[in-house]
This record gives sequence, C-alpha cells and structure tokens, in this order.
Amino acid sequence: MDYQTIYRRSVEDPSAFWMEAARSLDWDDFPETAYAPETDIWFPDGRLNLCRNAVDRHVSEGHGDRPALIYESPVTGRSETYSFAELRDQVAQTAGMIAAAGAARGDRVIIYMPMIPEAVFAMLACARLGVVHSVVFGGFSAPELAKRIDDCEPVLLLSASCGVEGSRVIAYKPMIDEAVARARSKPRHAIIVQRPELPADLTPPFDLSWEEQFDGAAPADCVPVRAQDPLYILYTSGTTGKPKGVVRDTGGYGVALQWSMGNIYGARPGEAFWAASDIGWVVGHSYIVYGPLLNGNATILFEGKPVGTPDAGIFWRIVERHAVRTLFTAPTAIRAIRASDPDAKLLDAVDGLQLRALFLAGERADPDTLEWIAAKLDRPVIDHWWQTELGWPAIATCLGLGEGDMLAGSAGRAVPGYGFAVLDDDGAPVPNGEVANLTIERPLPPGCFRALWKNEAGYAACFGDFPGHYATGDAGKCDPDGHIHVMGRTDDIINVAGHRLSTGQIEEVVAACEQVVECAVVGGRDAVKGTIPIVFYVSGAEAAEGQDYGWMISQAVRGAISPIAAPKACVRVEKLPKTRSGKILRNVLRAIADGETPRPPETIEDIAVIDDIIAAWPRKA
Ligand code: COA
Ligand code: AMP
Repeated sequence: MDYQTIYRRSVEDPSAFWMEAARSLDWDDFPETAYAPETDIWFPDGRLNLCRNAVDRHVSEGHGDRPALIYESPVTGRSETYSFAELRDQVAQTAGMIAAAGAARGDRVIIYMPMIPEAVFAMLACARLGVVHSVVFGGFSAPELAKRIDDCEPVLLLSASCGVEGSRVIAYKPMIDEAVARARSKPRHAIIVQRPELPADLTPPFDLSWEEQFDGAAPADCVPVRAQDPLYILYTSGTTGKPKGVVRDTGGYGVALQWSMGNIYGARPGEAFWAASDIGWVVGHSYIVYGPLLNGNATILFEGKPVGTPDAGIFWRIVERHAVRTLFTAPTAIRAIRASDPDAKLLDAVDGLQLRALFLAGERADPDTLEWIAAKLDRPVIDHWWQTELGWPAIATCLGLGEGDMLAGSAGRAVPGYGFAVLDDDGAPVPNGEVANLTIERPLPPGCFRALWKNEAGYAACFGDFPGHYATGDAGKCDPDGHIHVMGRTDDIINVAGHRLSTGQIEEVVAACEQVVECAVVGGRDAVKGTIPIVFYVSGAEAAEGQDYGWMISQAVRGAISPIAAPKACVRVEKLPKTRSGKILRNVLRAIADGETPRPPETIEDIAVIDDIIAAWPRKA
C-alpha cells in the first residue's frame, strides 16, 4: 500500500491501525483496547516484555545464530559480534546481576556508560526485569549526573571505569564518586565494568566489580509488564537548568518502533542497521538498541567518531564490512567527514557498499551537505525529523511505503499516526507556506511521551500553549502537498553537533562565575557542528579592566555541564543590548555572532551598545 493510503488509514481510524501494528509483537496478554482516551494510554490492557521481543523471540523463532549486536571500537581496536542467542545469554545474566544487587520491577537504574556492549546488555537487562533504566550520556559531567540521580532516585548505578574519546582515556570513576557525593538520593551500589585502558580503584561495599557480580549471577527470565509501564526515563534539555525526564512506555513504544523499522526505514529482518549515535540520546535508545533488535536486525554499536578514529573512511569501511543496508547519522558527522575528505576518496576506496539509504536527523540538514553526500553515495539520503519526546520519527520520507520523492529543504511528510498543524501564536492555523509554530494534534501516536518524570506541570505545559496540540518547540511550514519544512527552534534550545542543549542552562552556569555580572548565550553558526554556543558577558567593576575571563567561563561550562557544551567564543562586552523594558536582544547577538548585520528593534535601550559589541567580536571569534 502507498504512503497516502496508509497515512489516511492511520488518522481516520488510529485504533484499528495501531491494533493491527501491535500484532507484530509477541504479547503475554494481547490488548483488547487500542487506546483509552480518558487516560491517554495506548494498549491499556496489554502485557508484554520488550526484551523478550527484542532478543529471546528471535532465538525461539530459529534465528539464534544471526548476528544481533556488532561492536566496532576503533578507539580500542576491539571488534565483536554477538548472535541473538549470545545476546540473550549476556542479557539474562546481566539481568540476574542487577536483580541480585537489589533492583526489582519499577525501580530505576542509571546507566552511565561509554559505547560498550555491556551498556546494551544493561539496557535490555533492565527491560527484562521491568526495571526502568535511565541512560545518562557518558560525556555529561558529575553535576549533571547528580541532578539525574536526585530526580529519578536510582537503586543502582551501572558504569565503567573509563571512556575512550579518540586518543584520550577519560576516567569515569571520579565523576561517579563526585556525582554520588553531590546527590541527596543515594543508590545502593555502583557496578563498574573494569576496562583494561584504565581500571578503577573500587571501594566496597558501595562499588562492585561488574565482572565478579556477573560471573556469580544466575540468568533471569523476562518479567511481563503492562504496556503502559515505563521502559525508561531519558533526560533531555528543557528551557531551564533542570533537565526534563521523558518517560517512555513499553507497549506503545515497542509497537511504534517495530512499525517504523520496515515502513520508514525499509529495513528487513536479518539486515545490518547502523545508527551512528550514542546510547545516551534518543536515537541510541530507539535505533541502536530497541528498534533494530525488535525487527531482527543486526545493530552496530560504534565507539568512535566519524573522523580521526582513525580517519574519515571509518563509516564506509564498517558499512562495507558488515553489509550495512541502513545508515543513520547526524548531518554534523557528514560535514566532519567532508571537511576531512572533501573528494570522498576514502568512500571511493571501499567497493560494494550494500547501503540502501542514508538517513539524517538531529539537526537541520543543510542542502549543501545533503547534496554532497547524496552525489558521493549515489543513494537516497533522507532527512527526517523527530525529538526525544516523540521517540520515533514524525516527519520523514517513508522508504518502506514506496516514498522516494525527497524535496530539498523539507524533512518529508507527516509519518502515519502524526497529525501536524502549523499554528500562529494565538493558536489559529496559518495558510500553507507560512512559517509558524509546528504542533502535533492529540492524541499523540503510540511511542510518544505520556509523562515527564515527577513533573506533571512540565508535561501539561507541553500541551498548554495550543489546546489539543503538542507544541514541538520548532517553527515550520507546510506545502500544499504535505511536505513539512522545519525552520528551527522557537525557544532557547540549540543543537550542537547533533546534541541538544539549552542556552538557558549554559547561561545559568556562566552567570554563576565570579567575574560575571550578566551574560547571554546564543547559538552561533559553525561550519561542522551546525550551531555552537557563544557567550557574551559583562564583568563587574571589581574585575580587572580588559581581562579576558573566557577560559575560566569555558572551564566552568565543561565542568558543570559537559565539554560538548563548551563555548566557541566568550566575548567580554561593556553592556548587553536590551529593550527599554530590560529584555536581552539575543537575536541581535546571534546576528553579530554570525557576522550578519543586526536589525535592532525600535525598542532598543541604547543603540550604541551594538557598535561596541561588533568592535569586540572579531577579536574573539
Ligand atoms: N565522553 C566524554 N567526553 C566527550 C564525550 C563522551 N562520551 N563525547 C564528547 N566528548 C567531549 C569531546 O572529547 C570534546 O572534548 P574537547 O573539547 O575537550 O576536545 C567535546 O566533548 C566535544 O565533543 P564533540 O561534540 O564530539 O566534538 P568533536 O570535535 O570531538 O567531534 C564531531 C566533532 C562532529 C566529529 C562529533 O561531534 C560527532 O561525531 N557528532 C555527531 C554526533 C551525533 O551523532 N549525535 C547524535 C545525533 S543523532
Ligand atoms: P532531540 O530531542 O535531541 O532529538 O532534538 C530534537 C530537536 O532537534 C528538534 O526539536 C529539532 O529542533 C532538531 N531536529 C531534529 N531533527 C531535525 C531535522 N531533521 N531537521 C531540523 N531540525 C531537527
């Protein structure tokens, strides 16, 4: 069936549509009801276990020998393949280890790990037990980890002794110790994988060795849970310093992911699928771990970077080595590859790529990058759009539904299940072609968030601006033929190298620096990372005249949030441009950062401030 027919069916009778899709999973109790409007729950009477669906089911169906998890780590030289049967054994024993350490159904466990197989075992093991996992990106600092510990109050922390970032080894243990010391909520244990690159000193009884606990554990079975029970909490940047804990249900998510694998990505069971992201992000949850495994695909777990580990040909060599049919990455990775290998000689050096398509998401795909890689690969390169809150793509060109007509500059059309509306600030629909707030009609399809952890008000706020609609926070426009163009955020969230960050959160850290009395952080354009934080700050009278505090500010951001949030430039200015009512004119600063001519509004307090900032800017950029 074609996209139009399927799309119509999905919006005319969502219950019938998703009930049919639900049949592709293995349920302990198949749901009789698809959707309960009074509670906004999908499959309210269904029970299942997602680990069983992602792993054990394929073994029972006779595919135990097929590759399931392929670990490629150019930074350590390790390369390992686990079949579905081997994955089942690893996951069952990891689940036994987690249960023996005290975590049971409904408890939370934080996974703060680099991209190693144990991280995937841990996620699936939690799902096996009905334990709610919360994966924290390994690049986050101790204070960020502490915030998440306090919010979701985990029983256990699962981690590793170190991460490997290019040629650098990063010790995790000091960060775990600092985070646990900072947090008010205290996990019972940290279970640590000892990596040969940098083993950690463990302090029992709090610290436990993964290897010892794993060896002593008995394999645990799958625990059926209600479809509505949380599978995980994934924190993402909101507009304040406090991250939002997106709660994902189990059944709806499983159904949506399974549906997306064939219908959006066109992936067939048995093929290799590679989402070159990190398990700390939603892409990693949905398309490194759950989606491909549910669909019976081999998934690639890559510990490295698109460039420099060792070179810009690593993606293509892995795609060739494992006959990857679907590759998914962020545009920034392609820009980095292009900057390093402009003629794509390293791509030409591999033959026989079996790649069907390359999918891009996480940030705007600039047409120049998209056209470059499409020409070099000579295959469809498909931009698609979604968010942590949604859990799976909402705007795409659905390859599996026969779509192939990509429109440059558009992220595609509404994915079946999603009803988009472009609304002005008063909630009225705008005509096609006009840019306004991109919203999604309620109810959201299965798989999308149904709660923010312990934050009902925050969840309600996502639906508060436009009654009956979820406000995506993005601006967009729609063509008459249904193509949607995403134009950028309407709030202070920025995407730095595909990583979602809040400039408001960075501002909180900068403002807390001793020599800063006032500041504004904006996302400036960057040739590789797309957007990058730029700090404008004002120092007090007691600060040394002419002194540059940029290094100190940058260190503060790295330490409080992450090196991924480190500013590209910190510019000391005399005053920030403001309206007469005191609002900082961030779009004026953004224009200056991007080398454009700022267009200050009439309400500006002091026009001369702009000239001073322009004068200060080139020296710093
Ligand atoms: N643990 C510890 N530190 C980490 C880290 C991790 N998991 N990930 C990143 N960092 C550090 C880096 O070492 C770097 O530190 P430095 O400034 O001291 O050198 C800093 O954070 C910035 O890292 P990154 O954003 O990765 O920049 P980079 O210059 O090292 O690499 C790219 C640039 C474009 C190659 C890289 O950003 C990239 O691969 N982006 C794609 C990201 C992606 O796939 N996102 C998922 C979206 S689907
Ligand atoms: P995250 O929750 O980290 O996945 O980030 C989601 C945000 O990234 C979206 O709200 C968009 O602002 C941005 N984004 C993701 N995919 C795209 C895309 N294909 N085009 C433009 N922006 C995107």
